[in-house]
Amino acid sequence: MVVFLPVLRHVSRTGLRCGRASFATSQRNLTSLPSHYVLPSGDKIPSVALGVWRSEKNKVGEAVKTALKAGYRHIDGAWIYRNEEEVGQALKDSGVPREEVWITSKLWNTFHDPEDIEPALDESLAKLGVDYLDMYLIHWPVAKKDGQPYDKELTENPYPTWQKLEEMVAKGKVRNIGVSNFNIRRLQNLTANPLKIKPAVNQVEISFWVPQPELLAWSKENSVLLEAYSPLGSDSKVKDTLAVPEVVEIAKELGMTPAQVVISWHVQRGTVVLPKSVTPSRVVENLQVRALPSELFDKLEKAATSHKPYPRLNPSKSWGLDFDIFE
Ligand SMILES: NC(=O)c1ccc[n+]([C@@H]2O[C@H](COP(=O)([O-])OP(=O)(O)OC[C@H]3O[C@@H](n4cnc5c(N)ncnc54)[C@H](OP(=O)(O)O)[C@@H]3O)[C@@H](O)[C@H]2O)c1
Repeated sequence: MVVFLPVLRHVSRTGLRCGRASFATSQRNLTSLPSHYVLPSGDKIPSVALGVWRSEKNKVGEAVKTALKAGYRHIDGAWIYRNEEEVGQALKDSGVPREEVWITSKLWNTFHDPEDIEPALDESLAKLGVDYLDMYLIHWPVAKKDGQPYDKELTENPYPTWQKLEEMVAKGKVRNIGVSNFNIRRLQNLTANPLKIKPAVNQVEISFWVPQPELLAWSKENSVLLEAYSPLGSDSKVKDTLAVPEVVEIAKELGMTPAQVVISWHVQRGTVVLPKSVTPSRVVENLQVRALPSELFDKLEKAATSHKPYPRLNPSKSWGLDFDIFE
């Protein structure tokens, strides 16, 4: 079993907040959160990323520049977000050397046929203005071209897709490959093939409302690092997340904001976390995370895993699929 070695230090580059509560915190001698995890390739993936889904045109570039200035070194994007050009321009304008930034993009559903993969990847690379990606993910476990029924065989066993991704690693266009929105069954199906490279990560919805403790435990046992998307509950639930009584209480006690408490909780659970914001002050705020004392972490974990399940993002119906993508 490969163990993800957390590289311990404070993730925040801007230091602890001032004031009485943070004094109380430092008195408790908190341990640090991992700033990175070490992947099987040996690469270090930063634990907190800026997500750029639904980051609007003419805003996303500023968000990326603000993030890089604040100390983020991980941008989570995708071909389908249709903002790779602006993200790429911001990376260039930031002056931060390419090799210091972890860039993830994702292969869209329409490009799962092996012959479609390299052109799609090349398009992302060109738009981002880079010659390699740090991580390339199969965005969803469904192979489906626009206006056509889904490809059942390739959806059920995406081995041909995966083999092409392995080839992209061999060619140096991608450094690590992984999946997104895969459940345990789909990961087991994929890894039952004779893979040269195992999926390094699985990017899935994880939030206070969708905490996924079983998937988290399974992923740890099977050396698949989880990346938590919509970690604040996405647009529709972010207000509710930040008003959860336990979150508010812990924030008050530690002199942190509710968003910082939630993002810290994610990293403390051992996942990469991908909060999205185009609001400069929030972008900065979201990187200032630190370990919660264990009793407060446990309190939040208990609250997150004991409420009734909340429906997660599930595009099966809107994509006209005759199966549930999570089954
Ligand atoms: N693989 C996949 O299929 C998939 C699916 C969904 C998402 N993702 C990834 O995950 C990222 C995050 O997901 P998401 O955008 O759905 O949800 P999210 O990060 O949970 O929530 C984003 C919302 O929270 C607000 N927000 C951010 N920081 C805040 C703060 N400190 N205080 C108050 N509000 C705050 C944002 O507002 P403002 O922007 O207005 O500040 C936005 O409305 C995406 O950008 C993408 O990279 C991947």
